[in-house]
Amino acid sequence: MKEPQIERILFTEEQIDRRIREVAHEISTKHAGKDLKLIGVLKGSVFFLTALARELTVPVKVDFLAISSFANQKGAPGMVKIAKDLDEGIDGEDVVLVEDIVDTGFTTRYLLQHLAGRGPNSLEICTLLDRTPRRIVQVPVDYRCFEIPDRFVVGFGLDYRQFCRNWKYIAVLDPEPAMRA
Ligand code: IMP
Ligand code: MG
Repeated sequence: MKEPQIERILFTEEQIDRRIREVAHEISTKHAGKDLKLIGVLKGSVFFLTALARELTVPVKVDFLAISSFANQKGAPGMVKIAKDLDEGIDGEDVVLVEDIVDTGFTTRYLLQHLAGRGPNSLEICTLLDRTPRRIVQVPVDYRCFEIPDRFVVGFGLDYRQFCRNWKYIAVLDPEPAMRA
């Protein structure tokens, strides 16, 4: 596919790397002396999770789940179901759910409820991007790299029709595609 045009670069590779190091330091400090389980949501958060994991100084395990979003019978968005579950349990573990972006909050809230029922010792959220202007359901974001405006963005895991995930920077597209195309 012909890659979409960029309107502007929101965060450069250097800015992203620096911010991930800062957030990793925050997490490592808070969890010093403990093991961590990072849980990534396929596929968007994979790029952020691996970059974050490399900067953590506490012992880390990783696991992944996949979700699929769908509209309900009335056509309202925000319904989410598990398409691939975790490989291992999280009972008694200190868990950080790693997200590419928290937007309306529906996905994150669903995942939190799903994970909380499995007896983790603690459960936190770490997101690369946080777009609070579009929040519909409140979720407790413990760590965020960047707040972003209400524009569709791609790169560093975020896709436009499954492309652009491998970009090293995060960009706003031009012309702006429909949200979540
Ligand atoms: P939420 O349930 O509305 O919070 O949606 C979160 C999911 O929507 C993310 O994990 C992304 O897959 C997708 N998404 C939301 N905004 C964007 C964007 O600007 N670019 C690419 N994907 C997005
Ligand atoms: Mg997507």
